[in-house]
Amino acid sequence: MAIWSLACTVSPMIVIGTRQATRERSTLARPSKIPLGIVTVMAVWFISSYAYRYLTFDSEQFGIFRPRAGWLVLHVAGGTAALLIGPIQFWFGSQRSKVVLHRILGIGYLMCVAISSAAAFYMAAHTDFGWVFGMGLTSLAIAWVATTGLAVLAISRCLIEQHREWMVRSYVVTFGFVIFRAVVEVFEIAGTGTTVERLTAASWMCWAVPLLITEMMLQGRKIFMYGVQVPERLAARESGLLELMKSTEKTVVSRPQAPSKVRLEQPQSVVESNM
Ligand code: HEM
Repeated sequence: MAIWSLACTVSPMIVIGTRQATRERSTLARPSKIPLGIVTVMAVWFISSYAYRYLTFDSEQFGIFRPRAGWLVLHVAGGTAALLIGPIQFWFGSQRSKVVLHRILGIGYLMCVAISSAAAFYMAAHTDFGWVFGMGLTSLAIAWVATTGLAVLAISRCLIEQHREWMVRSYVVTFGFVIFRAVVEVFEIAGTGTTVERLTAASWMCWAVPLLITEMMLQGRKIFMYGVQVPERLAARESGLLELMKSTEKTVVSRPQAPSKVRLEQPQSVVESNM
């Protein structure tokens, strides 16, 4: 653990540091309070309105889920913990003083996703609302495992930037079920379609749309951050030649204006500033 922790601190500077950390700023700064606050409030709203009742172990509460009550309890317990761990991780994640807390919560999040997603696969395969709805939530479960798995894979190879990005995607997927319920409520208020149609549409919309928006934000930031790079300049910068090119350009431009004799007599400091 200690060796891995040291390796993750030092090796990014060596392995990717020269290519990534020094050249690129992080695409993810600490999230601002307002979006994180909204996400937390929505998560708490969902847990208190839809999830908590299944954690009271009152069999009356299970309704249509009674035949698979055990699976639902596992699913809801893991999902609730993952939903609450997420905002804490994003808030403290980038602070060096909270590294131990970050690792403990990170392992906790991973275990919650593993348990909750396994139960989600079972429940999606045994749902009462048809195969298209089941496929929507099965795809959500696949996205949950894939995004979280890639976040873990990235950090196991000390790729911090990629780890952050995949964790953002993973939490967007975790939050998908909160959006699912919000979308269903909106459809109900608007009186759109039948119950099965609302649930089915929401089972796809709740994660596909937020993931697309997240991707637009993550990749869009990079596009604006790096600006336009002429390929030759990019290649020159890569090989450390940009500075040399700049000094060569200055020399070439100034050559016709200054007689060669005068340039030879320039003081050493002027010659150095042109380098
Ligand atoms: C992100 C991946 C998730 C997937 C794929 C998923 C999948 C499912 C499935 C298939 C069902 C049964 C639906 C039915 O047959 O009617 C279900 C129900 C439920 N899930 Fe999840 N879920 C996910 C995340 C979460 C999270 C993070 C929570 C947080 C507590 C949660 C809480 C619930 C609750 C409370 C129910 C039962 C009541 C309801 O439908 O609102 N789920 N989920």
